[in-house]
Amino acid sequence: MAKKDEPLVKVDNLHTYFPIKTGVFQKKVADLKAVDGVSFYINRGETLGLIGESGCGKTTLGRSILWLLKPTSGNVYFDGTDLGNLSAGELRKMRQNMQMIFENPYSSLDPGMKVGRIIAEPLQIHNLASGEELEDRVREMLVMVGLEADMVERYPSEFSGGQRQRIELARALTLRPSFIVCDNPLAHLDVSTQAQIIELLVWFHNWRHLSYLFIAHDLALVRRISHRVAVMYLGKLVEIAETDELFDNPLHPYTKALISAVPVPDPAERDRMILLLPGEPPSPINPPSGCRFHPRCNVAAGKCGQVIPDLREIGESGHQVACHLV
Ligand SMILES: Nc1ncnc2c1ncn2[C@@H]1O[C@H](COP(=O)(O)OP(=O)(O)O)[C@@H](O)[C@H]1O
Ligand code: SF4
Ligand SMILES: [Mg+2]
Repeated sequence: MAKKDEPLVKVDNLHTYFPIKTGVFQKKVADLKAVDGVSFYINRGETLGLIGESGCGKTTLGRSILWLLKPTSGNVYFDGTDLGNLSAGELRKMRQNMQMIFENPYSSLDPGMKVGRIIAEPLQIHNLASGEELEDRVREMLVMVGLEADMVERYPSEFSGGQRQRIELARALTLRPSFIVCDNPLAHLDVSTQAQIIELLVWFHNWRHLSYLFIAHDLALVRRISHRVAVMYLGKLVEIAETDELFDNPLHPYTKALISAVPVPDPAERDRMILLLPGEPPSPINPPSGCRFHPRCNVAAGKCGQVIPDLREIGESGHQVACHLV
């Protein structure tokens, strides 16, 4: 077990590749490099925001950290324990402490299960409660997330999007985890429901001293609730800094573009952004050489197309950036 002043989560040179297969024999022809050498840490009680365009690898990184998706290489240390060294049983036990809230509560809640069973299931799997105590804990959890205790008998289809996200939250929190990956938890919710869910997340954060990896497209929100923010581009972290430092003094050309991005006006596409950058993000199957951002970078120079820039610390505040020109 780690000392109290050590990070709760430490990610070291993590790679998660998806094999691309073709033909009748499903021969592997390439790798899709969704996460490609990522290192960072999250302290106890800290919220780390994670931002970047769709497809840059945020969800894959979140799932890999929790070992819901086995990384191709690299290490994740949770409370000092190397998750890669755990047996399936030990990993299951460890999962009590680390949970994920998904982007789309419409697909993550089993439509055939009553809400009470959905919330009770993790407690039963981990043998943490049974009988009356189990029922009490489920009802208590429902009330804590702002629903009603007698809703246990209902099915997910009887709830609105915001209520389902509350159910999702209840399911994640019932095991009393110390770390939660929130993957775009406000997508598909209307503005007032978003505000309520955020209030709940912040309340639980303060009450239980939780750590969050908070993935979202709404930069104003990320700025409001994160202690530090990491920026991801095509499988790599390009910048990470304390929140105000990142927004007031962005150093990487991609971060600068993200911060000045304009939200897409269509509410149905609220989580997309229009970046004032040339072209689309390149494919993670065959990413550009050198700095991955160089084909879209308006200040790219000589070695940018050949040499991969390391994420390195600038100054003393822990601000890290991966750019040759900084
Ligand atoms: N299960 C999978 N199999 C193959 N490719 C995947 C899978 N999941 C994600 N990808 C690919 O990995 C890249 C990163 O995806 P994702 O992690 O979902 O990004 P983000 O969450 O930032 O939008 C994308 O190119 C996506 O198509
Ligand atoms: S390393 Fe070069 S291409 Fe990459 S962001 Fe910096 S200046 Fe642009
Ligand atoms: Mg995603």
